[in-house]
Amino acid sequence: MTPFRSIEWTGKALRLLDQRSLPHQTLYTELTTYQAVAAAIQDMVVRGAPAIGVTAAFGLVLAARQAETASVADLRAELQSAAKHLRQARPTAVNLAWALNRMLQQADAAITPSADKLRQVIEAAAQQLYAEDIKINRQIGAQAQSLIPDGAKIIHHCNTGALATVDYGTALGAIRMAHEQGKQVHAFLDETRPRLQGASLSAYELQAYGVPHTVIVDSASGYLMRSRSIDLCIVGCDRVAANGDVANKIGTYNLAIVAKAHQVPFYVACPLSAVDLTLASGDQIEIEERSPQEITHIGDRAIVPAGTAVFNPAFDITPAAYVSALITEKGVLLPPFEPKLRRLLDE
Ligand code: MRU
Repeated sequence: MTPFRSIEWTGKALRLLDQRSLPHQTLYTELTTYQAVAAAIQDMVVRGAPAIGVTAAFGLVLAARQAETASVADLRAELQSAAKHLRQARPTAVNLAWALNRMLQQADAAITPSADKLRQVIEAAAQQLYAEDIKINRQIGAQAQSLIPDGAKIIHHCNTGALATVDYGTALGAIRMAHEQGKQVHAFLDETRPRLQGASLSAYELQAYGVPHTVIVDSASGYLMRSRSIDLCIVGCDRVAANGDVANKIGTYNLAIVAKAHQVPFYVACPLSAVDLTLASGDQIEIEERSPQEITHIGDRAIVPAGTAVFNPAFDITPAAYVSALITEKGVLLPPFEPKLRRLLDE
């Protein structure tokens, strides 16, 4: 069992594990407004595409409680405006917009006599997303097992575990499941500059589950692939375009290129909620740029001379040609991805 919960609904408030204080401290914060939820997503109290989708859904539950109206029409309008605010918190992960759209569709479709009934519908819809996320992650983990041999040495980037989701995780969940099934796997965790999600969060998780692991700097993957036989890389995703191009944490593209150069399979754990068929290719995916401070400082200490120019894209695009397979909850997809993604999403 996971010894923590990234997201919890108390019935009145949203309780988040503040991921910025891990691995040193386990601090929780309780939020009661959708504005505070949007700020928590933006500031990365909670992060990881599936986790921010579900968090935003509960943001709408809070918005429904904040709106002191007895009118169903007014409440629907308040939800639209709160969703607009939440959607802007982080632009790259499509799960955020996907979860909000699903919530709004359910709010619009509900035939409700009162605003209070609509509040209940909204809360039930968020609870459903919460439960579904856990189920989907386990399905992805199970689908991935055919690609993870016993004894596998695996490189993983960023954090895609229970912290990045409601529970269990996608790519890290697949590694965890392999270990739980008795496979002797070893995970090499990219530290993931600049925010170090691999070093601080993935290592924290794998230590808790007893999965053998080693933290490496991001630039060590080439050396590692040449000098030790790495069997596969597995990463998560924030958005996958119709052609299979993958937006994920900055550094993913570098890893994919190095993997291809060494004929190491490069797998992407991909919940179908991350697929955006409205975008033909990854070139159309908006890439979030974050504060230069994430690069110029480690903790409170400046490591870059004051005044130096800094570029801090939080994500990059890995072209589909570098992806060996997309691991979805409904099956493992091999290239070409587009017809298979369209078929799965049509079902
Ligand atoms: O900036 P973050 O920490 O939210 O980025 C997280 C990632 O890039 C993950 O790989 C992705 O969201 C998938 S999490 C299952």
